[in-house]
Amino acid sequence: MKTKTGERGASILGLGRALPERVLTNRELETMVDTSDEWIKTRTGISERRIADEHMATSDLCEEAALQALQRAGVPGESVEMIIVATVTPDMVFPSTACLLQDRLGAEGAAAFDLQVGCTGFIYALAVADKFVRSGAYENILVIAGDLLSRITDWEDRSTCVLFGDAAGAALVGPTSEAGILGSYLGTDAKGAHHLKMPAGGSLHPACTETVEQRMHYLRMNGREVFKFAVTAMGDSASEAVRRAGLTFDDIDCYIPHQANIRIIDASAKRLGIPRDRVYINIDRYGNTSGATVPVAMAEAWEEGVIGPGDNVLAVTFGAGLSWAAAVIHLTEELKNR
Ligand code: COA
Repeated sequence: MKTKTGERGASILGLGRALPERVLTNRELETMVDTSDEWIKTRTGISERRIADEHMATSDLCEEAALQALQRAGVPGESVEMIIVATVTPDMVFPSTACLLQDRLGAEGAAAFDLQVGCTGFIYALAVADKFVRSGAYENILVIAGDLLSRITDWEDRSTCVLFGDAAGAALVGPTSEAGILGSYLGTDAKGAHHLKMPAGGSLHPACTETVEQRMHYLRMNGREVFKFAVTAMGDSASEAVRRAGLTFDDIDCYIPHQANIRIIDASAKRLGIPRDRVYINIDRYGNTSGATVPVAMAEAWEEGVIGPGDNVLAVTFGAGLSWAAAVIHLTEELKNR
């Protein structure tokens, strides 16, 4: 399929999301650590989050989101040629979660790999899929972001445990009649790498009694430093992605920011001059679900009729690395109306 300019277009053909049923409220957190519903709401914007049952793995939520995206796009699993899963909580270190899904989705022979860049993972994976589809190398690529952050959350650390939740979101990327991913901008400032990490479980500190005793298998974060980075990175990367797309902020129909903190969302929207009614927000219900925030919000916005074919969506994220990623996604007629 070629666009009007003769190039091959690529965009999102179907969106899906999966959230565990179990709701963990701020009130329940009050009984677990020294915190309050009021502090959490005013400092983060979060009221509740979803937590996966203990028998679930990341691949289970990813599978549910992927099947929904495929069904909505009307594309069978066997037509998927590549699966990219953005996650920092894979089922196991290897094989990749994408490989486990390849079998379950019936995507026989599909290339499958995981991509590990934390909360920016979905947009990184989307940019990779866009290049493969536009080059003509692949037709249908499943981009999935899923994490069970609850498995690496220190439930005794009030500065982090109130922030995160579990979720997965998926987008099927394929050829379209118009250009779809109009511009993207990915980057990293590794000087801040130590501000957000899970210290043990890799080759540097393999699991042992000591790493467990020192709680090194949990996410550790310097919230204030990440906050400062986020406000600048969101604004700068959004501006660059919009510039690369050849658009202005007036052309953006919906701004979907990483759902990490309502104060970061508001500050970035203000800086970019995007009015609140064009910002999609669901942090109150799900908290920060890592790479899943953007595809879950996109799927929800599409279900609610907030976005649809013809719209330009600006998605912007930041995360471990410290990394940033922004993309302007034009939704084409191939993304069916609900
Ligand atoms: N309940 C009550 N008090 C809490 C608390 C909680 N859950 N967590 C921290 N506090 C306390 C702190 O101990 C501190 O107390 P002190 O002043 O007596 O030392 C006070 O609240 C203020 O802490 P501070 O860290 O300055 O708060 P903050 O306004 O920066 O908010 C975050 C903390 C984590 C919410 C905020 O920094 C943030 O969102 N950072 C970005 C994190 C992020 O996005 N991470 C994901 C990246 S993908």
